[in-house]
Amino acid sequence: MQINRLSIFLMLMWLGVFSCRPLRPSVSSNEQYRPQFHFTPPSKWMNDPNGMVFFEGEYHLFYQYYPDATVWGPMHWGHAVSKDLVEWEHLPIALFPDSLGYIFSGSAVVDWKNTSGFGKNGKPPLVAIYTYHDMEIEKAQRPNTQSQAIAYSTDNGRTWTKYAKNPVIPNPGTVKDFRDPKVIWHEPTQQWIMVLAVADHVEFWGAPDLKRWTYLSSFGKEYGSHGGVWECPDLFPMVVSGSKEEKWVLILNIIPGHPNGGSGTQYFVGTFNGTSFTLDPAFKSDVESGRAVWLDWGRDHYAAVTWSDIPKMDGRRIAIGWMSNWDYATKVPTKSWRSGATLPRLLELKKTKKSYHMTAFPVKELEKLRGQKSVMEPGSVPSGTLFAEVKPGQPLCYELELEVDLSKTTANQFSIRLSNPKGEQYDIGYDIPLKRFFSDRRHSGDLSFSEAFAKDVHIAPRHQSNNLLTIRLYLDVASAELFADHGETCITDLFFPSEGFTQIRLNAVDGTVWIKSGVVNQLKRIY
Ligand code: FRU
Repeated sequence: MQINRLSIFLMLMWLGVFSCRPLRPSVSSNEQYRPQFHFTPPSKWMNDPNGMVFFEGEYHLFYQYYPDATVWGPMHWGHAVSKDLVEWEHLPIALFPDSLGYIFSGSAVVDWKNTSGFGKNGKPPLVAIYTYHDMEIEKAQRPNTQSQAIAYSTDNGRTWTKYAKNPVIPNPGTVKDFRDPKVIWHEPTQQWIMVLAVADHVEFWGAPDLKRWTYLSSFGKEYGSHGGVWECPDLFPMVVSGSKEEKWVLILNIIPGHPNGGSGTQYFVGTFNGTSFTLDPAFKSDVESGRAVWLDWGRDHYAAVTWSDIPKMDGRRIAIGWMSNWDYATKVPTKSWRSGATLPRLLELKKTKKSYHMTAFPVKELEKLRGQKSVMEPGSVPSGTLFAEVKPGQPLCYELELEVDLSKTTANQFSIRLSNPKGEQYDIGYDIPLKRFFSDRRHSGDLSFSEAFAKDVHIAPRHQSNNLLTIRLYLDVASAELFADHGETCITDLFFPSEGFTQIRLNAVDGTVWIKSGVVNQLKRIY
């Protein structure tokens, strides 16, 4: 039989060799420390998540990306999409640095009314709003390095065109830190609002069309933590759970200044009227005199911002952060890539006795990762009890759900302890008399890469005073994410054991722990 060129071509097409679809990540699932159900870049360096927007059934995730090395460098926007926030498909790089500078962090929106005029054939464009960072200006030691710019896509984010008249907000000439625009559509005043991090405060800007921006107001110099520079803001309305009351939340990432060291995420609750943000009187005392309210108490939760344009029918406010810390991010001992994202988290605003509190809890879609499940008998559990044993050659991929009855617990302190045959261990738990959670990676394996990595035990307050403590814990090879009391206290921390952790046990000090209910779910890998 004669096989002509066409049939060979068709056969190769069928085999996917000439597939036009972008390749799935060339992620080797057994690379040491490679997360198995968290987003990571296919290779090389990533930091902040950027431009998260939902459009036509896809959650877009862009991210600060340097495709040529495993350390920070000329910033691009890497790109991935997901239909469910669980499995991610890597797409080609969306934005490359150019003569105006590196592409720093920013946001993206669906311009539903085509205010920008970038739309085509009645289809609204996606518009990305980002910071240019000009290295030439930085080298010349002039302050006006950063300006704001836009780019658009009319093909569902697959290709991007930078606006010919960039920048849309030039640097005022005096401030070095002038970056990370988050843009939202403000329905009551029919305009786009940009919130921009400017050194020790934020600025609000308004525009009818994403192009012509006017300064509106500033906020923050005298509130919250000022241990470092403010970066990556976010602004969104939230209905207080169980009520009809609407509040506005302003997120501010800061580096350094986090109570456990380095970079972290703080937030403010108030009102926004289309021009200025005013703190809620009830929340004010939480953020006065240098006090701050933190979204996560671990050291590996930074640059967290939320998705734009999630349909009203869904109505969720979903955040994702960078799972690292600028104190040591460029030194962590991973090889072909560096850093990943946290799990996507549902944010909710709750009224407390005196103020407001934002909770963060993994999105329900993650339940589809659940595989083999083991259920514990309720009762008193002694120290050393094995929760799960990782099979040889398998990665540590688990979700633990525990309800601990503190009134029947005799131990003073307990933790979930990960360990390996090398004697390395990591503990994440709760101290009953001190009413605080802790994460201790001081003996968790490789600490050699940075003195800043495991100096202290990381601590976090418990806000509830009831006796039923609920814990949801995700373990993914080299990370732990704790969501206690349904996300009232969160801790995100990395660790790097020299050999994978193989055992998950209960550790209890001076007594036993009463477990009212306990489930251990083995989780599937997304790669
Ligand atoms: C936060 C940050 C941003 C900046 C980006 C540069 O981690 O410093 O402020 O836009 O990273 O990569």
